[in-house]
Amino acid sequence: MPEPDIAALALAGLSARPKTLPPVLFYDDAGCALFYRITGLPEYYLTRTELALLPVIAREIAPLLARPAALVEYGASDEAKAAFLLDCPGAPFAAYVPIDIAAAALEAMANRARARWPDLAVMPIAADFLTPPRLPPALDGMARLGFFPGSTIGNLDPPAARRFLAGARAALGPEARLLVGVDLAKDPSLLLPAYDDAAGVTAAVNRNLLVRLNREAGADFDPAGFDHRALWNAAEGRIEMHLVSRRAQRVRVAGTAIDFAAGETIHTENSYKHSLPGFAALARAGGWTPARVWTDPGQLFSVHLLAG
Ligand code: AVJ
Repeated sequence: MPEPDIAALALAGLSARPKTLPPVLFYDDAGCALFYRITGLPEYYLTRTELALLPVIAREIAPLLARPAALVEYGASDEAKAAFLLDCPGAPFAAYVPIDIAAAALEAMANRARARWPDLAVMPIAADFLTPPRLPPALDGMARLGFFPGSTIGNLDPPAARRFLAGARAALGPEARLLVGVDLAKDPSLLLPAYDDAAGVTAAVNRNLLVRLNREAGADFDPAGFDHRALWNAAEGRIEMHLVSRRAQRVRVAGTAIDFAAGETIHTENSYKHSLPGFAALARAGGWTPARVWTDPGQLFSVHLLAG
């Protein structure tokens, strides 16, 4: 993303009331590395629970797809999840299209994927998965499986999630399927530690936003002047992350003064948690037909297969 866009995105959010910053800004190199650490934290049950479901899912999906098929992954930070689908016996995939905003990490993973699957056409797209460019023409005539793992869809409020789903359906075509990882609503005593871990990695992710704006958007934040806060918003069914100003302070961002009262927050992320029927209804509203759902025995996480 070019730097002027970063300053413009930051200023738009920081001029709003309440102040916000969009989660797409988390993913600079340092942010990507911190998120990768989060996936291995004991409190962060999402990644390991989804990974444990994927071998079974891959085996059940492979026979459903015509060949050749293309795997189109939205928000593809590494190839670990796609590997279950690509390596499954009988896998029909001839092409892999990972879409991610973090261009350097995406290119590195595309090169690893080319070495690991020499017969696969790997066609990365460096873009925000919310506004992807058209799929490569090489996919014409291939069956398509969209893949949106990790509960990244939880970053989107229900109208935005519906728009994403409808856009993916239009982009992938009427015969496509879409596999979506969705974190499930559960007791806040399990949710909150996942977003406020003992090692402070999530707090570091949150503050890294400010470090990034200092470097890339002409800002002068004191990252230590802001506390990390995670809270469960029961009415909206979402975890929220905020940065809380520890004192009254003035910050400059690309030449514009932004004033904070003591205790004022910047809302940096939503992570919606869905029920199984709630997500199925959202999928229908996005033009898809829910076909199957897999969950772990603890009902922590779900993976939904949607049909066109
Ligand atoms: C990558 C959006 C799925 O919401 O759980 C992890 C991001 N934020 N810890 C999530 C995140 C704080 C994550 N997603």
